[in-house]
Amino acid sequence: MRRWQNRLYNCDCLTLIQEELMDLRGEFRQIYIDPPFLSGTIYTKKTRVDGDAESSAIVSDIETYNDKWASIDEYLEFMRPRLTVMKDLLTENGSLWVHLDWHVSHYVKVLLDGIFGYENFVNEIVWTRTNSPKTQSKGFGAQHDVILLYALDSEKFQTNSVYRKHDERSKRPYSYKDDRGRFRLIEIEAQGIQRSENRKQFEWRGRTAPYLYRKETLEKWWREDLIYRSRNGRYTKKQYLDDTLGIPVSDLWFDIAPVQGKSKEYTGFLTQKPVALLERIIQSASESGDLVGDFFAGSGTTAIAAASLRRRWILCDLSASAIEVAKERIEKLEMTGKFLTITPR
Ligand SMILES: C[S@@+](CC[C@H](N)C(=O)[O-])C[C@H]1O[C@@H](n2cnc3c(N)ncnc32)[C@H](O)[C@@H]1O
Repeated sequence: MRRWQNRLYNCDCLTLIQEELMDLRGEFRQIYIDPPFLSGTIYTKKTRVDGDAESSAIVSDIETYNDKWASIDEYLEFMRPRLTVMKDLLTENGSLWVHLDWHVSHYVKVLLDGIFGYENFVNEIVWTRTNSPKTQSKGFGAQHDVILLYALDSEKFQTNSVYRKHDERSKRPYSYKDDRGRFRLIEIEAQGIQRSENRKQFEWRGRTAPYLYRKETLEKWWREDLIYRSRNGRYTKKQYLDDTLGIPVSDLWFDIAPVQGKSKEYTGFLTQKPVALLERIIQSASESGDLVGDFFAGSGTTAIAAASLRRRWILCDLSASAIEVAKERIEKLEMTGKFLTITPR
């Protein structure tokens, strides 16, 4: 096998995939895209006098890309062929993650259902992209983006479990303490509707109850000192805070902060996404050594996250100024090693 080199392309992603990446069909484990989304805005990259300080004067404001479209139809006709060719790049267990917001996410969902098949839709992830929504006289301030996740084949697709760190709120139930640390109590007897007439009761250590687990399992937990006996003789299981991996992440991602002027990773690129967001995405659906793509790369966030997680990557952006930002940013990262910057003719 030829030695792999990561690549940053400066061109339209449709031409790239159709003309340059033919030999990589079926090779991408994961593609993340954060395309234009009909926002009606011309985006720029701001450079300020004192570096990142949001209050300081802007020295330059260079256009990076134009997200103005004549109509939704024109936008969808732009997206359709690009999404279609991206599908052909995926491995059998691969997935496409499309980052959008309220402007077009519903239209693109329908488009993707047509391309991938409704049955291959996996998740609509909601990411809280701002903690301070604007007050407005009509409706409510928009606070979230949407990431649509499609598998090439949902039967073959799997995600790695991802956990987020405990916070004060999630630690609250762990209100008991012993010499092994903080713990909470988990029911081992059927509760509420679980207490159906058919559920068998049995006697265990002096208490007859509709236990949810077999006697051998309860005995094992007893030997491991994981059973808690309350004053009235009821048993529950101890779950120690230190034994948990954190809180399983659901489709609601409110724990990843947006990139702001003060953030270390801030480049001035207006639609820059946080590395932590891309790390979560990449961690959850690919493995070390896999190939990850981003064909609307902007400031290159996907490459930064992919490199830190030891994935190979190919990025592409149409805008020369976006490529400049991405290139500079990736070059600064020690672990990326050499990569190619290519402008196909
Ligand atoms: C929302 S930004 C991506 C931001 C990126 N996720 C980041 O973290 O910086 C969308 C990018 O898509 C690029 N773009 C627009 N049309 C394109 C096309 N046809 N092919 C490749 N890139 C395109 C724009 O130049 C812009 O940089």
